[in-house]
Amino acid sequence: MVGQRPYYCAVLEYWIKEMPKIIYLTPDGTRHEVEVEKGYSVMEGAINNNIEGIVAECGGACACATCHSYIDEAWLDKVAEMDDMEDSMLDAAFERKDNSRLTCQIEVSDELDGLVVHVAENEY
Ligand code: FES
Repeated sequence: MVGQRPYYCAVLEYWIKEMPKIIYLTPDGTRHEVEVEKGYSVMEGAINNNIEGIVAECGGACACATCHSYIDEAWLDKVAEMDDMEDSMLDAAFERKDNSRLTCQIEVSDELDGLVVHVAENEY
């Protein structure tokens, strides 16, 4: 057993290693780099890590726009395109820009490891 790690440690290391990192930049200039489980939304990653500014009043139903954020320009082509429902709801967001997205509609995946999200000044 010398030199070998217990099985549960290997599983834990694998699980942690597999979690993509998402970087949230909040309006006050604070950088939050957190690991978010694949399959969760960027909004859920924010809520689970107490990222200030992403409120998610509707719980991810694409019905409130309080999860509004700006996707860093370097990542725009890696994030899946928005659908009509998100596009319509974003019209209700404060200060919509070309890189605006509702974070509840973006699923975390390996391809988004390192994604930079600028949290918007959400009204709530
Ligand atoms: Fe309500 Fe995203 S959480 S629109």
